[in-house]
Amino acid sequence: MSRMNKMMQYLVVAFLFFIELITAQKHPGIGIQKHPGIGIQKHPGIGIGIPPPPKWLTLTGQQPALIARGGFSGLFPDSSRYAYDFVTQVSMPNSIFHCDLQLTKDSVGFCQTELNLDNSTNIAQVFPQGQKTYKVNGKDVRGWFAIDYFADQLLPNVTSVQNVLTRPNAFDGQPLLLVEDVTSISKPPPRVWLNVQYDLFYNQQKISPALYLEDLRFAGINYISSPEIGFLKSIGAKVDKARTKPKLVFRFLEPDAIEPTTNQAYGDILKNLASIKPFASGILVPKTYIWPINKEMYLLPPTTLVNDAHKLGLEVYASGFANDYPGSYNYSYDPTAEYLQFIDNGLFSVDGVLTDFAPTASEAIACLAHNKNASKPKNSHSLIISHNGASGDYTGCTDLAYEKAVMDGADIIDCSVQMSKDGIAFCLDSADLLGDTTAITTFMSKSSNIPEIQPMNGVFTFDLTWTEIQTLKPQLKAPLSQDMGGLPRNPANKDKGKFLTLAQFLDFAKAKAVTGVLINIQNAPYLASKRGLDIVGAVTKALSNATFDKQSTQQVMIQSDDTSVLEKFKEVPSYKRVYDITGIIGDAPKPSVDEIKRYADAVDVRRPSILKTTAFFISNFTKVVDEMHAANLSVHVSTLYNEYTSLAFDFFADPMIELATLIEALKVDAVVTDYPATANVYMRSPCSDPTNTNLEYPITPVEPGALLEIAAPEALPPSGAPAPALQAASIVDPPLPPVSKAEESPKAPEPADDKKKSASASGSGSGRRSNTSLCLCLSLVAALTLSLILTVH
Ligand SMILES: *[C@@H]1O[C@H](CO)[C@@H](O)[C@H](O)[C@H]1NC(C)=O
Ligand SMILES: *[C@@H]1O[C@H](CO)[C@@H](O)[C@H](O)[C@H]1NC(C)=O
Ligand SMILES: *[C@@H]1O[C@H](CO)[C@@H](O)[C@H](O)[C@H]1NC(C)=O
Ligand SMILES: *[C@@H]1O[C@H](CO)[C@@H](O)[C@H](O)[C@H]1NC(C)=O
Ligand SMILES: *[C@@H]1O[C@H](CO)[C@@H](O)[C@H](O)[C@H]1NC(C)=O
Ligand SMILES: *[C@@H]1O[C@H](CO)[C@@H](O)[C@H](O)[C@H]1NC(C)=O
Ligand SMILES: *[C@@H]1O[C@H](CO)[C@@H](O)[C@H](O)[C@H]1NC(C)=O
Ligand SMILES: *[C@@H]1O[C@H](CO)[C@@H](O)[C@H](O)[C@H]1NC(C)=O
Repeated sequence: MSRMNKMMQYLVVAFLFFIELITAQKHPGIGIQKHPGIGIQKHPGIGIGIPPPPKWLTLTGQQPALIARGGFSGLFPDSSRYAYDFVTQVSMPNSIFHCDLQLTKDSVGFCQTELNLDNSTNIAQVFPQGQKTYKVNGKDVRGWFAIDYFADQLLPNVTSVQNVLTRPNAFDGQPLLLVEDVTSISKPPPRVWLNVQYDLFYNQQKISPALYLEDLRFAGINYISSPEIGFLKSIGAKVDKARTKPKLVFRFLEPDAIEPTTNQAYGDILKNLASIKPFASGILVPKTYIWPINKEMYLLPPTTLVNDAHKLGLEVYASGFANDYPGSYNYSYDPTAEYLQFIDNGLFSVDGVLTDFAPTASEAIACLAHNKNASKPKNSHSLIISHNGASGDYTGCTDLAYEKAVMDGADIIDCSVQMSKDGIAFCLDSADLLGDTTAITTFMSKSSNIPEIQPMNGVFTFDLTWTEIQTLKPQLKAPLSQDMGGLPRNPANKDKGKFLTLAQFLDFAKAKAVTGVLINIQNAPYLASKRGLDIVGAVTKALSNATFDKQSTQQVMIQSDDTSVLEKFKEVPSYKRVYDITGIIGDAPKPSVDEIKRYADAVDVRRPSILKTTAFFISNFTKVVDEMHAANLSVHVSTLYNEYTSLAFDFFADPMIELATLIEALKVDAVVTDYPATANVYMRSPCSDPTNTNLEYPITPVEPGALLEIAAPEALPPSGAPAPALQAASIVDPPLPPVSKAEESPKAPEPADDKKKSASASGSGSGRRSNTSLCLCLSLVAALTLSLILTVH
């Protein structure tokens, strides 16, 4: 047993080498470019072992600045103490603390994003009669305003409230912070950026932000921004005389909004950038000023704004970054991809980003930029396994999904094998064609109810010939419907690509020289006994025809939730067998692990089997990974998605922090993902190497329970029952039945009941597979509902 596993480990290491070898052989050009030869020409420093710092295309050539809007407002109520404290803890050094200035009736300055305090405080409860209407830049605004209250009325009584529904409200109830609280929040004091959004309005109410700042002597303020030219001009003279000289930044609002001093539209002011230089050293613009986005949410080519401004000596800061407001389909829901588009695009770099999610901006700036061509660090031990190819970007199991997976750096590409009526083995997530194809429009007459496969009716692959299946178009769908918190996937790719037979898939894998393939086999007993289809035989033959059973350079993994299927592949020792644990388990006691060990070298577990959550927070890690490792079983975890709605709050709406947690803290051996590109970018970054101690900003795994500890208990629902432990008795399946004559499908529609569902529990695959992997999302819906209830009350 142990020899076998040692061999397996060597194999994995060997295959990691092979990636490099193979890529070098395949693209000698790139290989040479990447390797030391050219490095020496380009950077003579490399010989001494100190690579020169990357060249940033910012105005000064320095690293872009990170400006944390209201602190880490992506998680905590904005401008709260937790929000600022967390920037100190989970953001790169030198991050700038952003504060939107509001002033009380007695000119006390504090930080709150909106002029109307009702938006993100509990003021309506404290002062129920306090609602008023003011004209703000020509428009009536109704709400609660700081100018109606003295500081000693407001500050002791009013607390902050999370106002964004996708963010937790378990951190509500913190006091408002004075500007002085923020400038002295850490030691050494942070750099602070003060935004004065409504100077004209405050002056109309006889309160002067400029006088307030003068009285403060600008102490601790490094930047002052405003969308009002009059304010910047008036403060300019005062700043010149001050000891600390904050930089002044002109903030652009939407192009058709009107600048109050000049009555010009911001879009028109933009056409005369030179006019800004006399009163500001930089501009802050909505990110779409730089990378415009069309109505369909696609990224258009960039404007020349950054280079134009740099030529005039103006710095450019971009605003509007938030992981949970996905900007464009072009980023495939990877929030780091968006930052890189602004700071590492080969044409220009903005001088800073204003973001609600400081940790993700930190990763992009300190870990990922200028790293496109790096290879995996030597200490990287986890494999990237695609889930139906790059199925986040193209319909799973299409040629395009597989091509993208290889391009995006997947080590292992996967095929869930299904059988057509005429015995052709091909790749598709599920035996039910309704999921990934247009079968609903053309083959509804073939719909049937097969409880052995899934509780719902379906149009099953084994009721259609391969010729019929090839007439179907792919359908790119999100794994979770939108009313369940799912996000739509790229409509431009909705029906692109074609499905591959298993033989075509294997040929493709060979041609691309991927590290390996994973073949997932489901429903074998049903196919054999009821449909006369020998799926095990079909896979065996295809692998052998493609000589995967003989050559040893490419790893073959056989995955199944049926031990009798795995048993059939024991003959070829180079095959790695993966037992698929489709249900959620809370523990894997030794007898169950020992049982698995008789059939498999690895297991595939669902995320919730290793990450326990309560109200969408990580409450603990289970021992499942350690228990499997103790028996030398490798652990694959599936399925990873980029969409923030699939991520626990502790991951900060950032798929890389989930990757860091699974790979570094939990030491999983492989991640199975719809988005191999994101896993690959993470694994190639210097920040994924835990032995690298020279990092400016490490991507650190989450500490389970850390956020729950500071959450208000009354904001959390009671935690549910723990997931059951894996039972040894549930593991071994009966021997596969002989292949018999085909039967007809029982006709639909007959609604399935729960007894049938549980009766099917041991034999089925895919339907259940995606069902259980969504558990985290379901708890998000619970959390969302909860936050709705709590904010409405
Ligand atoms: C409240 O705040 C949110 C987030 O900052 C913003 O999107 C929304 O427009 C604000 N609403 C009002 C009425 O100001
Ligand atoms: C606000 O707090 C102060 C001091 O704690 C208290 O005296 C005052 O009554 C409070 N006002 C309201 C409206 O709750
Ligand atoms: C964004 O994606 C669309 C659709 O795939 C593509 O046409 C466009 O070129 C992409 N934009 C950029 C800037 O890459
Ligand atoms: C990365 O590789 C690509 C393709 O080989 C090349 O065009 C590009 O210049 C390289 N980028 C860097 C930063 O070396
Ligand atoms: C056998 O392999 C050849 C070459 O890769 C391929 O063209 C053929 O379709 C395969 N046949 C089967 C039955 O898999
Ligand atoms: C977390 O799980 C471990 C076992 O994996 C257990 O020993 C520990 O008590 C748990 N911690 C909490 C706070 O539940
Ligand atoms: C696992 O492998 C290690 C090293 O290869 C070996 O020392 C150990 O005994 C093995 N443990 C089991 C339970 O197989
Ligand atoms: C699958 O999801 C549905 C709700 O979408 C749920 O009712 C059912 O119990 C789930 N099945 C399993 C096996 O988890």
